[in-house]
Amino acid sequence: MTNQNKSHAVMAQRSEAKDSLDNFPTPPWATRALVEHVIERGNARFLSSMSCLEPACGAGHMAKTLAEYFGTVSASDIYSYGYGKVENFLDRDENSEEFDWVITNPPFKYAEEFISKALKISNRGVAMLVRTVFIESVGRYNRIFSKNPPQKFAQFSERVPMVKGRLDKKASTATGYSWIVWEKNISPEPRLLWVPPCRKSLEREEDYLEDLSSGPVSEHYEASLKLEATQKTMF
Ligand SMILES: C[S@@+](CC[C@H](N)C(=O)[O-])C[C@H]1O[C@@H](n2cnc3c(N)ncnc32)[C@H](O)[C@@H]1O
Repeated sequence: MTNQNKSHAVMAQRSEAKDSLDNFPTPPWATRALVEHVIERGNARFLSSMSCLEPACGAGHMAKTLAEYFGTVSASDIYSYGYGKVENFLDRDENSEEFDWVITNPPFKYAEEFISKALKISNRGVAMLVRTVFIESVGRYNRIFSKNPPQKFAQFSERVPMVKGRLDKKASTATGYSWIVWEKNISPEPRLLWVPPCRKSLEREEDYLEDLSSGPVSEHYEASLKLEATQKTMF
């Protein structure tokens, strides 16, 4: 007899139909963890003068959180969830505009293409929230990691529960996540880091109050957010 684990957490692993847009919003605390514990260490106070693109913004959960730190955050998604410009990132003209940082939780099946495009249009760095198993596979080793290894691989010590189409504070998951980061101004050698337990300190009640994930809107519009609260949240 097999001893298959059918717990809710295991059954809730992120697996999607082939034609899915892979809309799994990121809990804001996991985005704050990137800034507070992983990128631009020693330079974080300068983020308020930097630009950032969130190219798969969904309903804006990650973009709004990045705007707590960055001077400007531009947001886009292939589908209109009511937030950001509508744009297929993979069709984006690489010469049109550059950003200091490109940061997102990419659709899993196009994560490699997102990384490749993001590296071309970023001046300082690229950060991608991925399932930990993403760094496995001979294909990805050959196509990405052997040629252009990230500088930081930051494994979450806690689980980051993500559910389709909404934020759910009570959700659980059996999937491990990490931030992989290409930081262009530091030594090229990859470093393994751990994101320390930080959910409790970085999570806010208001993160879950607003249901940003409600349906599509008819108009496309730009969302370029001006930083207002950087000093308050960081220093
Ligand atoms: C995992 S969700 C991430 C949502 C948001 N970044 C967050 O973390 O809350 C992936 C998003 O990628 C979008 N997407 C899928 N293919 C895309 C493409 N080619 N260009 C832009 N966005 C895309 C989906 O519509 C979905 O909103």
